Amino acid sequence: MCNLQHFLHITVKTFPRMRHFIDYLLTKCYTMIGYMQLSDNSNHDYYRGKEMTCKCNSTIETVDLSSVNEILDNHLSENSNLITILQDVQESYGYLPRMALSRVSEVTGVKEAKVYGVATFYSQFRMAPVGKYLIMLCQGTACHVNGSGAIELALKEVLGVQEGETTSDGLFTYINVACLGCCSLAPVMMINDQTHAKLTRDKVSSIIKKIRQEEAQ
Ligand code: FES
Repeated sequence: MCNLQHFLHITVKTFPRMRHFIDYLLTKCYTMIGYMQLSDNSNHDYYRGKEMTCKCNSTIETVDLSSVNEILDNHLSENSNLITILQDVQESYGYLPRMALSRVSEVTGVKEAKVYGVATFYSQFRMAPVGKYLIMLCQGTACHVNGSGAIELALKEVLGVQEGETTSDGLFTYINVACLGCCSLAPVMMINDQTHAKLTRDKVSSIIKKIRQEEAQ
């Protein structure tokens, strides 16, 4: 991994509140590497999807762009706005792959910096793949005073990951979020579309264990 990338990854771990800004910088880093490869190879297909590898040989990302092409075809005929397009791209890929964002910019004519700006500004958008189950633990005021701190510790313990990380089996990604809109049920978390209310440490543990058992069958 490039020294700059490595530095930014360390920084985001140390200062989680700077995640969006650092993610934007990482995006710039990846884009610069893409341009470096372009100038070396003079082959635009190389940049467009087959493979993108940094000079230090770390893979950036490789995704099949057929879904994003289809999404763009549908939206361009409907004059959709950028946010709607990005929502559909995320629904298809589970996150916003950098190559997909480049294709969105290329086809819509919206500058790549603006596409990244929108993608990194709104918390609904994810710039990295997540596990099959996205756990969103509310850290809003009502949940905080009702013990979300203890729930966070229980989650970290049962999952074996820190906030923002994905379990090694790819099943769970755990993130903290602001108010989920059901404060009277605090403390609350959502796993994908399902809300789990009035959480306790034991309840959290049994919810995760149950999902693991179902996945093992
Ligand atoms: S503060 Fe947690 S749901 Fe509102």
